[in-house]
Formats: sequence, C-alpha cells, structure tokens
Amino acid sequence: MRKNIQTRIARAARIIRRGGLVVFPTETVYGIGANAFNPRAVRKIFHLKRRPADNPIIVHIRDSKELLTVARDISNDARLLMKEFWPGPLTLVFQKTKRVPKIVTGGLKTVAVRMPSHPVARALLRAAGVPIAAPSANLAGRPSGTRAAHVRDDFGRRTPFLLDAGGARFGVESTVLDVRGRYPILLREGAIPREHIEYELGRKVRSAPHTTKKPRSPGMKYRHYAPRVPLIVARDLNKVVERFTRRGVRVGSIRFKNNLESFAHSLFVDMRRLETKGVDLIIVEAVPRKGIGRAIMERLLKASQKT
Ligand code: TXA
Ligand code: MG
Repeated sequence: MRKNIQTRIARAARIIRRGGLVVFPTETVYGIGANAFNPRAVRKIFHLKRRPADNPIIVHIRDSKELLTVARDISNDARLLMKEFWPGPLTLVFQKTKRVPKIVTGGLKTVAVRMPSHPVARALLRAAGVPIAAPSANLAGRPSGTRAAHVRDDFGRRTPFLLDAGGARFGVESTVLDVRGRYPILLREGAIPREHIEYELGRKVRSAPHTTKKPRSPGMKYRHYAPRVPLIVARDLNKVVERFTRRGVRVGSIRFKNNLESFAHSLFVDMRRLETKGVDLIIVEAVPRKGIGRAIMERLLKASQKT
C-alpha cells in the first residue's frame, strides 16, 4: 500500500475511535462505518442514509478473536463456513453479545457479522481496534456505492471522510446467512454463490420465507438498489426495448453478454450512469439464476419493485 493511503487509514481510524463516520472500500461495495460499540456514532449512519430504524447493520471484524466480542453460540456450520470463506463476502448471523448496542441490530437479538478481505478495510479495522458497523455507502433504497464518485453523488457535501481505493471488485453485496439453527437459512443472495455454501456444508440451504410483515432480514422488505428512473427486467431485451422506443420512451438498456461476474461488477455503475443520462426507463436483460446470477436477479427484482 502507498504511503498516502496509510496516512489516510490512520486518520480514518482516529475518526472511528472518536465516534465519527468513515467511508471505506470493501471487496463487495463501499461501506459507511462507525464504531459498532458506540450507539451515538451508529445513529449518525441511520440519519445520513435516511435508513429505517428497523434495518440492522452488518458488523465488520478484523479476526476470529474479535468475533467473540460481538457474537456468541458459534455453531459448527458457522465454524466451517468461516474457515472456508473468511475473510470474504459472506455475512453470518449469530446471537449477539450484550456489548452490541440495540441500534446496530434494529432491536433484534441477533447480529450479522463479516470479515472483509479488502486490504484497506482490513488495515482500517486493525488500526481502529474496534468492530465497525457499516451498511453500503448509498442513500437508503439506492443502488449501492461501488465507486467513490457514486458515494459523493448520494451524499454531496455531507460525505464523511472517504478512503478511495477505486472500483469495488464484486459490485454486489455479501451473501447473508443465518447459521444459528439446524438448517442454514439464506437471508440475502450475494457475492458468495449459494451453491458454494451448499457444497461446503454438504447439504442444501433454505431460503428465507417471503413475508413482508416480520421478515428475518428486515432490509429485504424495502424497495432497494433502485435508480431514480423506473427499471424493468426483460427476458427478450431487444423486443422490449423496441416496444418502448416505438412509443417514444427514451430507453437505456443493460445487456447481458455472457459473464455473470463482470455483469455483477458493473451493474450498479451502469444503473447510475443511465439515470444521469436522462433516460425515462432502464431495461435490464435477465441473467441465468446460477452462481452470482442469483444475487443479480434478486437485486433487479427489488429494483423493479414499486414500493
Ligand atoms: O457487502 C456487504 O454486505 C456491504 C459491505 C459494506 O460490507 N454491506 C451491506 O450492508 O450490504 P447493508 O446494510 O446495505 O445490508 C445489510 C443487510 C440488510 O439486508 C439487513 O437487513 C441484513 O443485512 N441484516 C443485518 N443484520 C441482520 C440481522 N441481525 N439479522 C438479519 N439480517 C440482518
Ligand atoms: Mg444496502
């Protein structure tokens, strides 16, 4: 790492320790972080993002020792997955310890934890010396920030101190899995494909039931990942684009070539680019629901939802 970024990481760590907010890169998307043990600091995140208070925040940790300060009752499934996928884009849900303030977990008794692999995130966690609570760095409901410029677009002059490390590698968020019970439950599709988790566990993973009243992953009940203009998903892209264009609708389209990873990587970038170009409608081609394609489709369906 260059000297300049090291100086900036040290400064970011001081801000976190003093109860401030920092925008930092992870391998999935950018995050807005605060000291997870400081409820007043975490409150600032909800305020800045205009995030509903019942939507809990993921706690980022530097190593497995730090896990025990925030989580308890670590199941064998959890141990196995941590060994295989940490550090990396897998978030696991545990019983929380008393030290984790309610505001972090939206009042739940559980806490979602992940150990990021991005070198800058890791260096920040080490330097700060505390777990960092961090949602994606975007206004609530918007496509996640995967580049520093996008974070600045959403927050303008209110953007917290920002560590810029270029474009995020995966471009979609971490996979969220509840590993407390007998059956692991997938709460959010993400950068680690469900198939990989099932392969490691040697059995199937269940999907969270789709209820909107009391969902297991509160974040999933809202319209999400959505650009400022309407978005629809199409199986036959050309046909649908043509149909709208003929009616005089200014359409922006996002085509699937053949690589799911690169599609995921640029999806939020493309959405944000098209909305600023002044189109009336964004049409995205549907992708195969395998590997990271599941995460892509989950996000597209949320983004096309009306409310
Ligand atoms: O890749 C990521 O996970 C990024 C980077 C910054 O780490 N973070 C992220 O955070 O995507 P956010 O806040 O945008 O999404 C967190 C998701 C939400 O759907 C939330 O409801 C769920 O995780 N979640 C958090 N704590 C939970 C808990 N205790 N039980 C169930 N779901 C939880
Ligand atoms: Mg988010």
